Amino acid sequence: MAHATTIAELGSHVGQTVTLSGWLYNSRSSGKLLFLMLRDGTGLCQCVLEKTAVSPEDFEAARRLGQESSLHVDGVVRADERSVGGHELAVSAVRIVQNSAGYPITPKAHGIEFLMKNRHLWFRSQRQWAILRVRHTIVDGIRRYFNDHGFILIDTPIFAPAAGEGSQTLFAVDYFGEPVYLAQTGQLYVESAMMAHRKVYCFGPTFRAEKSKTRRHLTEFWMVEPEIAYADIDDVCALAEDFVYELVQRVLRERRMELELLGRDLTKLEAIQKPFNRITYSQAAELLHGDNVRRMLLDDLERAKARVEELKKSIAEKEAERAAPGTKEWKADKLAHELLDAREELADQEDAVRNIPHHMELAANFAWGGDLGGSDETIIARLHERPVFVTHYPRACKAFYMKRNADDPRVVNNLDLLAPEGYGEIIGGSQREDELDVLLERMREEGLNEADYEWYLDLRRYGTVPHGGFGLGVERTVAWICGLKHIRETIPYARMMGRFYP
Ligand code: 4AD
Ligand code: MG
Repeated sequence: MAHATTIAELGSHVGQTVTLSGWLYNSRSSGKLLFLMLRDGTGLCQCVLEKTAVSPEDFEAARRLGQESSLHVDGVVRADERSVGGHELAVSAVRIVQNSAGYPITPKAHGIEFLMKNRHLWFRSQRQWAILRVRHTIVDGIRRYFNDHGFILIDTPIFAPAAGEGSQTLFAVDYFGEPVYLAQTGQLYVESAMMAHRKVYCFGPTFRAEKSKTRRHLTEFWMVEPEIAYADIDDVCALAEDFVYELVQRVLRERRMELELLGRDLTKLEAIQKPFNRITYSQAAELLHGDNVRRMLLDDLERAKARVEELKKSIAEKEAERAAPGTKEWKADKLAHELLDAREELADQEDAVRNIPHHMELAANFAWGGDLGGSDETIIARLHERPVFVTHYPRACKAFYMKRNADDPRVVNNLDLLAPEGYGEIIGGSQREDELDVLLERMREEGLNEADYEWYLDLRRYGTVPHGGFGLGVERTVAWICGLKHIRETIPYARMMGRFYP
């Protein structure tokens, strides 16, 4: 009797007969041999069926199986260095559960719109499989870090009576005839719980009505927010640094195979060591005005222009080759894939050629007082190999709850953590304004309705202490660690402006 197992477990069954249950990823035959690439959720395994091993009818039925057919396969496990996963199955029997026909996501090339519409099926593709496994480990690593460091989990509400961040990005919901808002942050609530438990965190979905269609913005994303008592900005930075470092280490330990499958340059992640860099907002502004930023962007522009020409030439050549009479079908398919990739890159490079001059202008004319833009963050992040904290932003461009700096009242004791390789902000946090009068003054400046925040002001009335915390966005962290250009593949079902299906 064959032993039921999974592809991940094959290493402990070499030489034995086992049963694998899964789905057909793809298949090819060469006369007397049929190669069934099986996936079972834990990995991929090549299953080799010899014509003589089964009846002619069974061989024919297996040969005709469509992509994503569900099936059980019995066979002997062979160690094979060259095979995916290091093992092969010498098949003795195939039992079909369902022969699936016309699976939409074929090995042929597909554009991103089609794939996003078929997200419920796209999950099964190798890259998407790998990304969500990395996400799983990041989420698990987040929970473990805080649980292991004495933090108490506080689940904060999703229906919120007022803005926690900015009023421009609120989603209003009709709550029995009254407007409430989907939570932009759990922070104000964890601040109250911090007074009871000292070290707390919340971890859940948050919502922002972001009207921008960027690579970095979702309308629904996951955020973890720790909050600690008797802490200043340096304590918050130290926590963020240790936490992000440990997270990267965990993924490197547990998801090497997935990162390699994604083609991630692991040396870049291995370079994430403590201490992280730390600069102030004013220093960041100076960096942006620097000559080496100008040179770096001019180089980028030249490179992008050259690449556009290269891509145009190669696209023309590939198109001609694909259309040429006598081009084999497999070759045409391969060219179609390459063309899709090349066109995507061409669009990116053309965007770069259009945008770089604008980014140069933004950087050169960056005026003290404004928030750093996405392109500014990218530039600063690129100038550092390790993550970089940017601290002490101008008060006016940051949220009302941030602590006014004692030496320079124009700035607040806040921190953004920018991930390297141009990824930009993954963490936003601060020491909190713990003085009632100063907080009230800031709220009036912002035009916030005091009555909505009475409960929050109580925290400054009864036993206020210096405290602070931060929020880390899960999806931006997954994008950075996996080396993805766009945030949309980092969450099972992305919600963005103009996208909420399936
Ligand atoms: O900087 P943000 O807005 O900070 C807060 O919400 C604070 N209340 C956190 C705190 O101090 N407790 O957001 C924190 C992080 C960002 O650095 C980013 O990683 C992520 O949340 N984030 C988004 N991720 C995806 N799409 C969006 N629209 C995001 N907005 C913020
Ligand atoms: Mg922020």
